[in-house]
Amino acid sequence: MSEPHIVFQDVHKSFEQKGSQPVIALDQVNLTINKGEFISLLGPSGCGKSTLLNIVAGLDKQTSGSITVNGQPIKGPGNDRIVVFQESGLFPWMSVLDNVMYGLLIKKVPKEEAKERAMKWLQKVHLGKFANAQPHELSGGMKQRVAIARALVMDPEILLMDEPFAALDEQTRMVLHKELEELWYETKKTIIFVTHNIREAVILSDRILLMKTRPGGVKSVFDVKAARPRQATDSVLVNLESRILVELEQEMEKILKEEFGHDYDLKKDSLRGDSDSHLGSDI
Ligand SMILES: Nc1ncnc2c1ncn2[C@@H]1O[C@H](COP(=O)(O)OP(=O)(O)OP(=O)(O)O)[C@@H](O)[C@H]1O
Ligand SMILES: [Mg+2]
Repeated sequence: MSEPHIVFQDVHKSFEQKGSQPVIALDQVNLTINKGEFISLLGPSGCGKSTLLNIVAGLDKQTSGSITVNGQPIKGPGNDRIVVFQESGLFPWMSVLDNVMYGLLIKKVPKEEAKERAMKWLQKVHLGKFANAQPHELSGGMKQRVAIARALVMDPEILLMDEPFAALDEQTRMVLHKELEELWYETKKTIIFVTHNIREAVILSDRILLMKTRPGGVKSVFDVKAARPRQATDSVLVNLESRILVELEQEMEKILKEEFGHDYDLKKDSLRGDSDSHLGSDI
């Protein structure tokens, strides 16, 4: 029986804007994320993905409604919820090992124990041999692996990932998908993963939230019922990708109509090409 972990009730978030209407980043979000679930947030630019993640991280606060973690309202950032961003955010003056140990030392974990735990995680992300390297000596994919090790060494209950692989090439991304799936399977963390990439979402997730704009929020929810470990060629995933793409295109058409008004019908075909700028180039 699945156990609720993060519960959103009527969550609303708006941002005031000088001289114009507030932007509604999230409206009426009602959602229960279960313990150990891998959930992706997918959708066009500006639909509130990062806003939702930041609120769970305790970096921002909803305007109204409630969000609880294990039944408790979120009061701010905490070691139970750690974020991995698109940029690894490693300290450039520290070695890889020191970067991974840093959070443990801040928590007053004794140095030898911190080192042992950090090495264990570096090995899990296949970077044991690079413990003494400096971040500038690593590739983009390796830096993101260090960022994941640095997050997981803190043993958070919840891992929040905001487009962590968006800047990586397709091959590196595929390798990291496999590694992340394995780490998730082993650790049973609850993961909220933000992406523009439909394939990435279907390969990794138990559930996908397709988000919408104006107002921002959840448009549709898709269960991903494919066996793990996942294969990109699995027909369940391929069919689901097409279904999601259809809905995403509807959402894009709505956005373009709002932006271009009457001009939309006249310019339809040329504007459709613009949709990539909203989706990111990698759907
Ligand atoms: N600090 C802020 N002040 C004002 N408006 C904001 C702020 N943060 C976000 N917004 C607005 O809220 C909406 C949702 O933004 P958010 O960053 O959550 O989108 P997103 O889905 O993560 O987009 P992207 O895919 O481009 O990262 C956007 O319209 C954005 O302009
Ligand atoms: Mg974002």
